[in-house]
Amino acid sequence: MTGQPVPEVVIKTVDNGPYQVKGPIRLVDHDNNVYDLGPGRTKLLCRCGRSANKPFCDGAHARHGFAAAERSG
Ligand code: FES
Repeated sequence: MTGQPVPEVVIKTVDNGPYQVKGPIRLVDHDNNVYDLGPGRTKLLCRCGRSANKPFCDGAHARHGFAAAERSG
C-alpha cells in the first residue's frame, strides 16, 4: 500500500475474529438504529455469527473457537 492514498474508511479482517472498521462511517442496523463513527474511530463487527450484540462483536468468537485466518490471493 506504499505510495497509495489511505482511504477514509478501512475494513480490516482480524484473524479468527471480527471485522475492524475504521471510520468515518455510518452504520445502520436492521432496526434502523444509526451508529455514526467519527474519523479514526473503530468498531468491531461480528463475522462469526455468535455475537449476542449483532452487528457488533462481543467476544463470542473466541469462546466458540471461530477460525478464519485464511489469506486471499
Ligand atoms: S466475530 Fe466476535 S463475536 Fe462474532
